[in-house]
Amino acid sequence: MTLAFEMKGAIGVFDSGVGGLTVVRTILQAVPNANVVFVADQAHVPYGGRPLYEVAKFAQGISEALIASGAAAVVMACNISTATALSAVVRSNPEHIVLGVIGPGARGAVSATKTGNIGVLATEGTVRTGEYTRCVHSISSDVKVTEVACPLFVPLIESGETGTRQAFTAAAEYLDPILKSGADTVILGCTHYPFLLECLQTVAPSVTFIDPACITALDLRDRLAARNSHEDLSTSNMTIMGNLVTTGDLQVFAAQVSRFIPEIHSRFKLGRGGWMHDKLVLSYDPISTAERQAAVR
Ligand code: DGL
Repeated sequence: MTLAFEMKGAIGVFDSGVGGLTVVRTILQAVPNANVVFVADQAHVPYGGRPLYEVAKFAQGISEALIASGAAAVVMACNISTATALSAVVRSNPEHIVLGVIGPGARGAVSATKTGNIGVLATEGTVRTGEYTRCVHSISSDVKVTEVACPLFVPLIESGETGTRQAFTAAAEYLDPILKSGADTVILGCTHYPFLLECLQTVAPSVTFIDPACITALDLRDRLAARNSHEDLSTSNMTIMGNLVTTGDLQVFAAQVSRFIPEIHSRFKLGRGGWMHDKLVLSYDPISTAERQAAVR
């Protein structure tokens, strides 16, 4: 059975995988009555080591599918998508709210740093674009920025290994050049990384970690409020069901969703969407209750 989404007025959010759930969680704190449709492009995760043109193609394809289906706003809950595709999608959709996470992350870090020295943990691709350094310098040109690529993090998080010895070893290795540079503030430049926050704080307890999702969600709330000034965006309405869709394995995704966002996972219907050549098909196969229960056991 294939279902269509209830997309009218929805907030479309996407990432390569479960990282975007950190942004969904934060959006629902800022805009509790949002109807969120989240796409995890797990058919292509990880994005971080792929050629940048390929990531841009995926990000544009998902954004276009969300907008064509009636989404009022698109949030690129993915740093590398933001770095490679945000400006093109904003340009081609002037009527829509289209937001990325890098500008908000840069703003948060510049206002938090006391030493004028910032670190960025991100995927290889995001580091290659230099977008964080460019954004920080567009706000304050004398802030020092040290960007470090963390290729082991996304596979560790997607497989649920956030508290393991490998996670701590990788965190220590990636934070080392940043700590040596004297940074007091570190941007989590990949939406997967908030799931490693405890581990990162243990390794670097004196550092302020910035999750760009917080400012992105507030920007979204302000943009929606400016557009729908008559609607109350502040009241929590837990009866609204959002949709979480994967282009990958639905059973695996169902288990990840209940593990990573246990406090809100029952608010969402789950389903499998798919790519047809270069186009994302945004009707979806829902998971049955029995399949969902089996996945979380
Ligand atoms: N979570 C994504 C980001 O913020 C990408 C992770 C990946 O698939 O490499 O960049």
